[in-house]
Amino acid sequence: SGYFTFDPGFTSTASCESKITYIDGDNGILLHRGFPIEQLAKEASFLEVCYILLNGEAPGKEEFSKFERDIKHHTMVHEQIHRLFNGFRRDSHPMAVLCGVTGALAAFYHQGLDVENPEHRRLTAYRLLSKMPTVAAMCYKYSIGHPFVQPKNKLSYAGNFLHMMFATPAEEYVVNPILEKAMDKIMILHADHEQNASTSTVRTAGSSGANPFACIAAGIASLWGPAHGGANEACLKMLEEIKTVEHIPEYIARAKDKNDSFRLMGFGHRVYKNYDPRATVMRETCHEVLNELGIHDDLLEVAMELERIALNDPYFIERKLYPNVDFYSGIILKAMNIPASMFTVIFAISRTIGWISHWIEMHEEGMKIARPRQLYTGYVQRDFKSKL
Ligand code: CMC
Repeated sequence: SGYFTFDPGFTSTASCESKITYIDGDNGILLHRGFPIEQLAKEASFLEVCYILLNGEAPGKEEFSKFERDIKHHTMVHEQIHRLFNGFRRDSHPMAVLCGVTGALAAFYHQGLDVENPEHRRLTAYRLLSKMPTVAAMCYKYSIGHPFVQPKNKLSYAGNFLHMMFATPAEEYVVNPILEKAMDKIMILHADHEQNASTSTVRTAGSSGANPFACIAAGIASLWGPAHGGANEACLKMLEEIKTVEHIPEYIARAKDKNDSFRLMGFGHRVYKNYDPRATVMRETCHEVLNELGIHDDLLEVAMELERIALNDPYFIERKLYPNVDFYSGIILKAMNIPASMFTVIFAISRTIGWISHWIEMHEEGMKIARPRQLYTGYVQRDFKSKL
């Protein structure tokens, strides 16, 4: 009853209050708990950013050591989860497997879990943060027919993930510090982004009081789409398809053609009408990593030229379309030997802290079930007569 506004895609509706992340899209500013993303990417580790997102303040030494210990306590997954994997096809997309397995964790952490209890919520956050890299690496190992690699808690968060991805029983994997640092930075840049589609999905699912592991699985489902987290995989595929700078104009023309559904992947954003500050850091990181590894990748040239042409084209200027976080991330991940199908999985590992911080904030603030209204455009009332 009463009036309500019609706002498809929620372009102008705030669904909640939040103290976690601030975005000024016109000026390309992103702050987590007030701290600029550029400073966090330069000076903090991913786990430190997790602490900040979760607790609102930067940790002192002791607080951080305890946090790190608590997280590492939960890196293993139940043996039954190992068996669960056998039900999936080996050629399944890892995002499908990640979504299924994360949802299945609800079956392991449900009885006795009281979402109203702050301690239970904290434990849930630790479990999710710890287990996500383990499950993600298992998705990869399963797809290539390798045995799962157990977590090694003496390694860093990013280092442990790389270890579980690339170690084999036959060969010890020595984590390259350049790759470890780059992975950590990629994780920081994806950690949170206020009420994006997947975070809103987690909040919506959680607003009914649902199991948090199931809510995170819902977030993973939402993240998978190419308009959201799936853009990093789609962007690398696009760059590979473009292949050489000569082909760029053809793709720019397609992106501008309203009769063609093709869009430039890694370009444009609902909130940023300026350069995505995460993309600036990602581009720098991309150059650094390739330089340090001594890799030359033609795709980086294609990406830079594509960016240059697009940013000088009236179509992109008028619509304020700039590269977003996913434009350069794929080139870095490729240099790390990570297959494109795992890119969005890595986004999901990183965004888990954002999802769970919002889920906790929602519970702390006291929530109302998410229940949007609609404009009904169907039949007026009519009489039913069976056609059978
Ligand atoms: N290539 C070509 N045209 C575009 C693009 C693009 N990548 N993005 C937007 N446009 C055009 C769009 O066609 C529309 O033009 P017109 O006004 O003539 O109809 C105008 O720009 C506004 O676009 P919109 O679809 O109304 O904007 P939106 O806010 O609904 O969509 C978006 C935002 C990110 C879904 C969209 O820009 C897009 O599809 N980008 C490509 C996918 C991508 O890179 N996604 C990753 C987002 S950042 C990572 C994350 O947080 O998930």
